[in-house]
Amino acid sequence: MKSVRYQVAFVVLALASSIASAFDPSPLQDFCVAINDPKAAVLVNGKFCRNPKFTTANDFSFSGLNIPRNTVNRVGSNVTLLNVDQIPGLNTLGISLARIDYAPNGGLNPPHTHPRGTEILVVVEGTLFVGFVTSNPDNRFISKLLYPGDVFVFPIGLIHFQVNVVETPAVAFAGLSSQNPGTITIADAVFGSDPLINPDVLAKAFQLDNKIVINLQKLFGGNNN
Ligand SMILES: *[C@@H]1O[C@H](CO)[C@@H](O)[C@H](O)[C@H]1NC(C)=O
Repeated sequence: MKSVRYQVAFVVLALASSIASAFDPSPLQDFCVAINDPKAAVLVNGKFCRNPKFTTANDFSFSGLNIPRNTVNRVGSNVTLLNVDQIPGLNTLGISLARIDYAPNGGLNPPHTHPRGTEILVVVEGTLFVGFVTSNPDNRFISKLLYPGDVFVFPIGLIHFQVNVVETPAVAFAGLSSQNPGTITIADAVFGSDPLINPDVLAKAFQLDNKIVINLQKLFGGNNN
């Protein structure tokens, strides 16, 4: 009797750990349009789901991704991410989409990672130098120059960037393998955390003078991104 109970407990634990896997769950129905008001929801599989009877095409669409975004900022790029928050019909479906605009002459989508999604990017305009770095201990930098029509994959979790190397604006679109891939911009997370990380920690980690760390923290801290 006791061993049966242990076996049941083991199966429950195994199920729970597969539910808590790093990837979005596979949908258990056609769709599960996300809804903010749980009282109006009928199913739960990810976010709360809208009653399918009240779902319309608007839940699955977005307009205006053809419009160039403003790239006048300190890095010279602008990411428009359409995840489950913009398109509630993406809930449970494990996919999202981004448009990225790059300023002429060095517009940069700075080094960042998506903790929950692999990215596949296609260049539409401009010429992008792109790359990602593999994990320890190799830290191999895998990079390429991309022209319109070229496609590149950034594997889940790896640090990557794109920079526009021509004198005209660049545009790319990217698919990501999560309804909410998340973004960690390395410089903002490290030097602009809230509250700030002790400068001694960062000085030692990056082998920098404390004064340089404090200057970087002034630049990236205080919600000025
Ligand atoms: C991105 O572009 C939009 C529209 O052009 C603008 O409202 C927004 O402030 C821009 N974001 C950044 C980070 O520059």
